[in-house]
Amino acid sequence: MNKQTIRDVSWQGKRALVRVDFNVPIQKGVVGDDTRIRAAIPTIKYLVDHGASVVLMSHLGRPKNTVVEDLRLKPVADHLSSLMGISVQATPAVAGAEARVAAMSLTPGHVLLLENTRFDAREEANDESLAREYAALADVFVNDAFGAAHRAHASTEGVARYLPAVAGFLMERELDALAGTLEHPERPFITIIGGAKISDKIGVIENLLTKVDALLIGGGMANTFLLAQGHAMGDSLVEVSSIELAKRMIELAAQRGTKLLLPTDAVVADTFAPDATTRIVPITGVTSGWRILDIGPDTRIAYAHEIARAKTVIWNGPMGVFEMPAFATGTRAVAQALADSQAKSVIGGGDSVAAIEQMGLADKVSHISTGGGASLELLEGRVLPGVAALRDR
Ligand code: 3PG
Repeated sequence: MNKQTIRDVSWQGKRALVRVDFNVPIQKGVVGDDTRIRAAIPTIKYLVDHGASVVLMSHLGRPKNTVVEDLRLKPVADHLSSLMGISVQATPAVAGAEARVAAMSLTPGHVLLLENTRFDAREEANDESLAREYAALADVFVNDAFGAAHRAHASTEGVARYLPAVAGFLMERELDALAGTLEHPERPFITIIGGAKISDKIGVIENLLTKVDALLIGGGMANTFLLAQGHAMGDSLVEVSSIELAKRMIELAAQRGTKLLLPTDAVVADTFAPDATTRIVPITGVTSGWRILDIGPDTRIAYAHEIARAKTVIWNGPMGVFEMPAFATGTRAVAQALADSQAKSVIGGGDSVAAIEQMGLADKVSHISTGGGASLELLEGRVLPGVAALRDR
């Protein structure tokens, strides 16, 4: 990564303003999956251990520019306190005079969490006055919110104009794992892309086709590719408006000599329901009244074989309707193949992360991203505004 990090700053007696992504599920005031909170701890700990005081800020959910009681960050401050074994103070202020008093009264080693940045209408507008108010709280800005780095908001981008701005350890790890892998992969380099809609991931497919040795496609989006090849898809989900796009991708792959693997068989169901009647059919045998809800056994074997011979694998998106156990086999097979392989394996966001975690295989892969939209944008080859704003090395 060519950005400065918290290692490049001398922290003794300084105040750090750290943007984290504490956008975690909270039910009745209790934090659910706390992966994102845990992932920010190495940065906070480093700053505290090096004599800084720390002002944390994060968004939570999408409160639409107003205070939503259920989206207050106090439960997160309490959770972080218990995880770190230190007291993390929470203030009901996002910025302004009250936040400044709280920040200025911090002594080295102490941590304060500001209120949900999105309670302030100026945050998402990337308003200069809010960015300046944030900047007045500290000496140095640290961005460790990889999951929000694709947003050009006052707390991710604007504030970096008014303070020296460096990356935290989570940001560094994510960029090295995703962008670094894309730039310098050990080959064979393959990616597995799934999910329901081709239109959500077209930018990713287009960018990756120029970089990988093989692209394996599954999930609902594979149906549109198969339709573009002339296969009948029965009652399967297809995006008719993306057929031309799919054809273009197939041509691009052929031109570049990139292997494009599509399912050769499928699990079809007579209805979209967990207890539907199912069949396994070749891809040439999807008839009216049936819809594809998962990849079939031959495809599972073929994809596992590709994964086994790869040296680098990036995976984003499920192979079928993973939420229903009857159609989770394909996704689980990919997760297992990744866990069994020696390849450097990077999992980017969403359902593929859930699959790996539910199977207890998370520690068998090289990197699991904490970012959904942010990791997709990186895979599309885009520059994230929250990263661009940081000081170059
Ligand atoms: C996420 O959950 O992907 C990030 O926290 C960003 O959230 P957002 O999509 O609401 O900006």
